[in-house]
Amino acid sequence: MMQYIKNIDSTSTELRRRMSAEELPHGYCISADFQTAGHGQATNHWESEDGKNLLFSLLLRPTVIPASEQFVITEIVTLAIINALQDYIRQRITIKWPNDIYVGDKKLCGILIENALCGPTIDTCIVGIGININQELFTSNAPNPISLKQLNGRDNDREEIFEEIYQNILRYYDYLADNWQNDDIKQSLHYEYMNNLYRRVGYHNYSTPEGEKFSAEIEEIGPQGHLTLRLQSGELRTFAFKEVIFL
Ligand code: BTN
Repeated sequence: MMQYIKNIDSTSTELRRRMSAEELPHGYCISADFQTAGHGQATNHWESEDGKNLLFSLLLRPTVIPASEQFVITEIVTLAIINALQDYIRQRITIKWPNDIYVGDKKLCGILIENALCGPTIDTCIVGIGININQELFTSNAPNPISLKQLNGRDNDREEIFEEIYQNILRYYDYLADNWQNDDIKQSLHYEYMNNLYRRVGYHNYSTPEGEKFSAEIEEIGPQGHLTLRLQSGELRTFAFKEVIFL
């Protein structure tokens, strides 16, 4: 169910175009070697050298997941990716809330999840994934990119990595869907997500978009994906995505 295209504007845009033309199944996936208009969160451009990395968009039809619990998709996708990539490098891979994949203070992979809701349920979920695999030089103003090759010093097999991640995501999804009534399983996925977070322990510097700076530690990430930080004063503050900046 993987469709390969050499060049495209964006695999997520192409997936959306195909979805409006025909009924595509859960697990349908488009991958490309190069994107002319690859995009990230907000209006960010996604830099990726032709033929060096992984760029793909996967369609999920998460029929069992209520819209109010959509953050669990972020949890399974991020965990599926780090578990697959961890086999390729010794350095620890972490998840920078909500869904960036980091090694140290550098970004190895970006994820853009776009859900179309139908009332209280999720009709379709487009998971766009860009992973820096064999690129050695980054030229855009992306703040802190890094590739697998820069970390392990060798050329890595893109197809093998794609296959592992693709299967992993679908496996995590099936496991969750099959056990949707079992709160222990949802809870343990959440623990796994929390345990793999970037800056999971200790105090670090944050700021608000308005420029208010503070030191805080991660307290919890709620069911809607909101981040609660504990300030040194003991005060707890909760943020939605983009409401807090990691300094
Ligand atoms: C981010 O970190 O800002 C998210 C980046 C997501 C990039 C991927 S590459 C494949 C898919 N197609 C896109 O245009 N974007 C996603």
